[in-house]
Amino acid sequence: MKKNFTKAPQPPPVLDASGMSRGTASWYPPGADVVQDQRQTFASEFEEHFHVPSRIAEMNHELISTVNDFHFAMMNDCPRNEFYYNALKAVVKPTSVIVEIGTGSGLLAMIAAKLGAKHVTAIEANKSLAMVARRNMDANGLGDKITIINKMSTDVTAKELKYGKADILVSEILGTLLLSESALEFNNDARKRLLKKGAIVIPHGGVQHVTLVESERLDVITTARNWKGMDFTAFNSLRDTSSLIFTKQVGCRFHNLGYNNMSARVPIIECNFATGQCNAAPPLERRMRAQIKRTGTVHAALYSWEVYSDPKKTQKMTTHVEDTVDNFPRDMQWGQGVQVVDDYVASERVASEAERRVSVPLTVKKGEWVDLVVRYASDGVLIQCLVERLDKAGAPISWKSEDFSDEDRSDNGGYSGEGSDGDLGDESGDEALRDLD
Ligand SMILES: C[S@@+](CC[C@H](N)C(=O)[O-])C[C@H]1O[C@@H](n2cnc3c(N)ncnc32)[C@H](O)[C@@H]1O
Repeated sequence: MKKNFTKAPQPPPVLDASGMSRGTASWYPPGADVVQDQRQTFASEFEEHFHVPSRIAEMNHELISTVNDFHFAMMNDCPRNEFYYNALKAVVKPTSVIVEIGTGSGLLAMIAAKLGAKHVTAIEANKSLAMVARRNMDANGLGDKITIINKMSTDVTAKELKYGKADILVSEILGTLLLSESALEFNNDARKRLLKKGAIVIPHGGVQHVTLVESERLDVITTARNWKGMDFTAFNSLRDTSSLIFTKQVGCRFHNLGYNNMSARVPIIECNFATGQCNAAPPLERRMRAQIKRTGTVHAALYSWEVYSDPKKTQKMTTHVEDTVDNFPRDMQWGQGVQVVDDYVASERVASEAERRVSVPLTVKKGEWVDLVVRYASDGVLIQCLVERLDKAGAPISWKSEDFSDEDRSDNGGYSGEGSDGDLGDESGDEALRDLD
């Protein structure tokens, strides 16, 4: 989750004595009191003869793992902190009443208080983090200006806010995918119940992008090849081109792999956190047409996002590979999402016609147009991207598992034909399969 998390699976909410769920959110941050099993301590993860510092031994194991996975790096992502500082500085007044969703160490609430806000209510789902935040706030002499509520934001009511509904909502609940920590859901809920009408929301909005990339080094760790005359390519029948993984899981910073952008960055989800408008779902599938920038092989779809401070986009914060080259902490907390891509239509055709399980490389030519078929999970968070070539009439060449008729080829998905001559022809299928062999 953050940054290594996806939305699923989630532990079920804890039930109280009456058997009622205490939680109402569709996703909970790791270590949230409402879902954590208090008995599973960090110490219980180790054999007894291992030393576990007493400061963390009794804390929830998930909290300690998560905090050590990304929280330190996140706090030291200074351009991130700067983004929030500048965004808050532009709007905070001595009369400002502020709510923060997910205060963690207390960092954003403390920025707001230091900038002179009247009062900040800092909401935090985890008790241990809430206690640490309190210590940070007191140590900085900001204790009186900030109230901490140790709850999920969805369980906080306006009555609990010392100065009533807020003028400003601030949060940093962004995942490796823009919405993977339920930023839209939690902002929407807080806007409706905890904010004054027309309140300012930071970040104001954001865009999730996908870019097609070529990366020989990524290919080396995701494809079976030949070595000393031995052919291992049968192993490619096990390739996973469905899942979206995170660069941290691959153990790399993407720019260190070396890569070529094969398409422009394509916006696939646009969200306005201040109004709740978002085009993520429905529909469950959307097509975007993209032009290939260079001849080569598309090895992956790379997912990155950007968020804006305000409607004028005065401040911008991104996870785009080009923007994080000098930001090691950002790559170690968010990084980017990666999905290995192949020519799925050619692969399915070989499977159907020759009964061979293969993963045909997606070789492309400069100038060729392709369709990005973006599938959204029904919760609007998880994403999958397929690439389809176009036939001579500019219609996408799709694959339907039941059959693969000419009718399917002529279904152009509503496009008016800004196509190319890059059909399935000699670029794909058997030709590409031969390359692999
Ligand atoms: C990514 S951290 C950000 C911490 C801090 N705001 C910062 O910017 O450094 C998100 C924090 O929000 C908490 N959190 C996430 N969603 C929450 C929610 N809906 N209600 C309360 N706490 C939440 C998590 O437990 C975590 O501590």
